[in-house]
Amino acid sequence: MSEAEAMADEFDTIAWWTASAVAELGEDHALPAACRGSGSPAALAWLASSMELGQGTRLLDSGAGVGGPAEYAARSYGVRPVLAEPMEGACRAARRLFRRPVVVSDGLRLPFPDAAFDAAWSLGVLCTVEDKRAYLSELRRTVVPGGAVGLLVYTRAVDDLPDQPEGNHFPSHDELVADLAAVGLELDDETALADVAATPEDWDEAASRVEEVVAREHRDDERWQRAQAQQETIAGLIGDELVVGVLLTCRTPVPSDIVEQ
Ligand SMILES: C[S@@+](CC[C@H](N)C(=O)[O-])C[C@H]1O[C@@H](n2cnc3c(N)ncnc32)[C@H](O)[C@@H]1O
Repeated sequence: MSEAEAMADEFDTIAWWTASAVAELGEDHALPAACRGSGSPAALAWLASSMELGQGTRLLDSGAGVGGPAEYAARSYGVRPVLAEPMEGACRAARRLFRRPVVVSDGLRLPFPDAAFDAAWSLGVLCTVEDKRAYLSELRRTVVPGGAVGLLVYTRAVDDLPDQPEGNHFPSHDELVADLAAVGLELDDETALADVAATPEDWDEAASRVEEVVAREHRDDERWQRAQAQQETIAGLIGDELVVGVLLTCRTPVPSDIVEQ
């Protein structure tokens, strides 16, 4: 199986199936089912507070998936989200669930002018991208000077992982900090994902019910089986603390910070 096929199974096909399962179960299942990298509302709340998101903030969500985190920010803080996501199935699912502006776009080449947003976040995406500096540079470019860039990054806590899921390239914490510095993003605040509050039970239960419907409909499909295997591999790495989730808020430089080379 190629890396592209693995990514498509997990982030394109399953995304669309997820929206269909929500249609069966009801709108109250949409948010939990559509947060596919971040999970916990507490993680989103930590980022929102640290990034100072508020009423009317123009927020770019790069690698937005099915759109749960952007919707959470819109409902809880009044931000105006724009979703960018390379997988068409995920974009269609996000539109179907939440009706926010969505663009099919690779985060390495965002179709927005410089400084188009007050802030941007990217959750659970960086580990799927090989050229992390190019990806981070696009976040920096599209956010106003002094604006916030929030990240949830799954980092590699050991030199070599026993099992590397297809399409994932987990950076070490040191590599991540070096990449941020290299593109001029200033690290402002950081916490371990494990240190923010756990996901509420009713949120987990709603997400599980959606997964059960997807499994009921598609478990004989090899795309579901491959995506399931990928998710189990990642869950195992996180459970064994070989991969560790980190939440970070960075700031883009203001012109007086920029030193001519
Ligand atoms: C683990 S999911 C997280 C989705 C969403 N951010 C969330 O928290 O629910 C990773 C997402 O990154 C997207 N992705 C992969 N490569 C990307 C790239 N080069 N640019 C932007 N997004 C990318 C995938 O399509 C997928 O939707």
